[in-house]
Amino acid sequence: MDFFLTEEQLLVKKTAREFSISELVQGAIERDEKKIWPKEAIQKLGELGFMGMMVSEEYGGGGMDTVSYTIAMEEISKADASASVIMSVNNSLVCYLLEKFASEELKQKYLLSLARGKKLGAFSLSEPQSGSDASNMQTIATLNGDHYIVHGTKNWVTNGINCDYVILFAITKQGIGHKGISAFIIEKGWQGFECGKSEDKLGIRSSDTCELYFDNVRVPLENRIGKEGDGFKIALATLDGGRIGIASQAIGIAQASLDASISYSKERIQFSKPIAMQQTIQFKIADMAMEIEAARLLIHKAAMMKDSGQKYSHLASMAKVYASEVAMRASTNCVQIYGGYGYIKDSGVERLMRDAKITQIYEGTSEIQRVVIARNLLQK
Ligand code: CAA
Repeated sequence: MDFFLTEEQLLVKKTAREFSISELVQGAIERDEKKIWPKEAIQKLGELGFMGMMVSEEYGGGGMDTVSYTIAMEEISKADASASVIMSVNNSLVCYLLEKFASEELKQKYLLSLARGKKLGAFSLSEPQSGSDASNMQTIATLNGDHYIVHGTKNWVTNGINCDYVILFAITKQGIGHKGISAFIIEKGWQGFECGKSEDKLGIRSSDTCELYFDNVRVPLENRIGKEGDGFKIALATLDGGRIGIASQAIGIAQASLDASISYSKERIQFSKPIAMQQTIQFKIADMAMEIEAARLLIHKAAMMKDSGQKYSHLASMAKVYASEVAMRASTNCVQIYGGYGYIKDSGVERLMRDAKITQIYEGTSEIQRVVIARNLLQK
């Protein structure tokens, strides 16, 4: 394993860092408070090639490796985890899935514009009654000649309101569990397809999350991705990569917490000296740094395993659980180091703590990641 980044990866890091500083840091507190979707920043991320980083150049992407993607996700997340989740859904849940599983026709029709950041995608798997137990869905797609009729409700859909296309999972054959689920790509604006309100969330508030309603939506047969019945495996295989993205988001939040803790503790004077001189603060900072370093290595290992074509589900899950727990601890300790100032919005650090929480929940809760890890170990 190489611990040094390549020239290309270093360039990605520099570009993402400069973009974060010039385009995302300013206004992040206001966007969070008022739930303002970062439209301009997302457009610019597309122009930089960050909305389809791992897609091959042939399909409009950057042809980069997964480590580059984790680096960009970390840098963007340091400034604004709302912007980074919008980016991660498009990259790892939508573009990846289309490139790996869709027909050439669908790639030409949808992937090119999504990978170039001209269009935005969403991924809709969960339903009100099926979150962790994802295959227990009720949305139905009934074949009727040359099209399907889709009926049902999806929830917790990131990008649901602002996207152009949605990856949808629905039952095409009832009574056979996950083997009856198929995947589709649906266009915004098709008759019978509506979005619910933007959810009022604890964190990542300037990204949108909503319910989607499908009332007998007519979906052309050619918009099915993969074979009938392959949908659930396509969803799980895609989520493996998505989890590396969310782990990177978590570590960006953790690193931002560490950076803020270091600078504030050197400035804040109590008992006639900077609080950084107190061992209790030093130990918190040391723990944060140690855990972030370990989480980053785990993320890079999972990314390398993915790129080398080896089995990596368990590593992606390990990276997500660990990085999200590190993010939660680091951001909570950062607020603690700031004391009362950390508890008010102007400090910017309470947002880190609120944003960190979702990394333990979406794209599979920490509990589900442990299920994935244990099953992989026990199956050996
Ligand atoms: N890749 C491909 N196939 C896989 C797989 C993987 N990583 N993991 C399992 N499979 C296969 C299995 O081999 C099995 O196939 P066979 O029946 O042919 O053997 C099939 O998929 C079903 O697997 P399981 O029996 O293990 O399925 P399960 O019902 O027990 O569920 C689970 C497993 C891990 C709990 C899964 O349901 C899961 O990951 N749940 C969490 C869902 C989740 O992450 N939701 C997040 C939604 S996206 C989001 O957060 C919104 C957003 O916008 C960000």
